[in-house]
Amino acid sequence: MAQPVLEFRDVVKRFGTVPAVDGVSFSIQPGEIFTLLGPSGCGKTTTLRLVAGLEEPDDGEILVNGTPLTAPRRGIFVAPDKRQMGMVFQSYAIWPHLTVFENVAFPLRVRGEPSSTLSRRVLQALETVGLAGLEGRGATELSGGQQQRVALARALVYAPAILLLDEPLSNLDAKLREQMRLEIRALQMKFKLTVLYVTHDQAEAMTLSDRMAVVHRGRFEQVGSPAEVYEQPATPFVAEFLGRTISFEGMIAKNHGGCWVDLGAGGARILLDGKKSGSFSGGEKVRLFTRPEDIEILPSAEVAANQVAAKIEQVAYLGDHIDYHVQAAGAFFVLSASKKQRFAVGADIRLKLDCERLTIRSV
Ligand SMILES: Nc1ncnc2c1ncn2[C@@H]1O[C@H](COP(=O)(O)OP(=O)(O)OP(=O)(O)O)[C@@H](O)[C@H]1O
Ligand SMILES: [Mg+2]
Repeated sequence: MAQPVLEFRDVVKRFGTVPAVDGVSFSIQPGEIFTLLGPSGCGKTTTLRLVAGLEEPDDGEILVNGTPLTAPRRGIFVAPDKRQMGMVFQSYAIWPHLTVFENVAFPLRVRGEPSSTLSRRVLQALETVGLAGLEGRGATELSGGQQQRVALARALVYAPAILLLDEPLSNLDAKLREQMRLEIRALQMKFKLTVLYVTHDQAEAMTLSDRMAVVHRGRFEQVGSPAEVYEQPATPFVAEFLGRTISFEGMIAKNHGGCWVDLGAGGARILLDGKKSGSFSGGEKVRLFTRPEDIEILPSAEVAANQVAAKIEQVAYLGDHIDYHVQAAGAFFVLSASKKQRFAVGADIRLKLDCERLTIRSV
């Protein structure tokens, strides 16, 4: 594997006694978009500020291209303006009293860029983000989306080693957000940028990231590709945070023929293969987790193995699909279905679970 562009080694940052970043280690490869996804207050912005040098860690080391930028135990701390970082802050932080040109020129001026090349680089950055021709405008005479592009141009203007983006799309409306998401991805691929991206929006993380970390209370719960994290959540927090989860309570039953979870309702039995059943013993109470999209709705009939009897409680017609509010084995949840399959309120149905994709835990 290539030398990582960014590496965290057991980094800790406390505010008072509260650890905002609590012993975090990870690395980002060249040309990768790595996303931190997590709820408000979990330490995402603090992690970015540590990379930029706007916060000093209490412990651990941060390296860029193999060189330590921050290592408190070794007395190393490189000042923010000596780091090759481009940052878009959570609230753009563009200067209202400056023109678009001067906003983007700022990082170059701070670094003493000669005026012979400064203008060309600023105009090139504005061109890259689709703002050519607007350089003379006051920064406040722009739409939210355009201001966001100015912030992006300013972060890109001096070819940073790492681009740090802190919820850069959170102030935009849904449609523009989707468009900018694609544009950022296209820019990143064109210029082979290495990006550390922060969001609390699951869809954004899933569509943008090469790899992502799910962050909870200053710790990385899981790191992996979007598909790995979604399909094999390592902890209940990850499963809950990434999309919807449906859970059933049941009891492990075993005989010489096999192992299954008894859901108690209407004799529903969920068969477990050797791999899943290994660590459980007969009579143990468990909780079974599945994604709504892994459940198939079938018309009423006698339940077979891996099926649960259910009832439709409510029907919501949403134009392109139908949401069924369903009760099954003591649980209430919503299943989306195509319009081809129609059931009325009060209808008895069966749900077929996908045993391959279940997660089971003791309770
Ligand atoms: N300067 C500070 N002084 C004291 N506490 C701070 C400071 N900055 C952050 N914190 C605390 O550290 C924790 C992590 O904050 P951080 O801003 O990194 O969260 P976040 O994940 O970016 O949240 P959000 O999604 O709301 O932006 C929070 O509990 C926050 O209150
Ligand atoms: Mg934040």
